[in-house]
Amino acid sequence: PLITWRDADGREISGNVASGTNLMRAARDAGVPGIHGDCGGALACATCHVATDPVWAERLGPPGPLEDEMLDMVDGEWTPTSRLSCQILAHEDLEGLILIVPPGA
Ligand code: FES
Repeated sequence: PLITWRDADGREISGNVASGTNLMRAARDAGVPGIHGDCGGALACATCHVATDPVWAERLGPPGPLEDEMLDMVDGEWTPTSRLSCQILAHEDLEGLILIVPPGA
């Protein structure tokens, strides 16, 4: 699916992501600033924080319990639609997904 990352200033990077790829790795491959993924996707760093709009948040579903705990540790602004992008796997239903990279990430 085509995924777009948008920063606080409205700059966008888009890329086609293979199904099954987690969206932290996809962001790093696409060179998205602010998505670090320091722990490699092990739910131990919260440096892969993104937010979505409410419609996409509902389609993505809520964070899992461990992800929810880790969201308390994000640097910068946490929102009710925040997710850790290493926990989201690309699949065809995510075509057109826009992820917002929080300021200060
Ligand atoms: Fe560390 Fe997502 S990459 S929690």
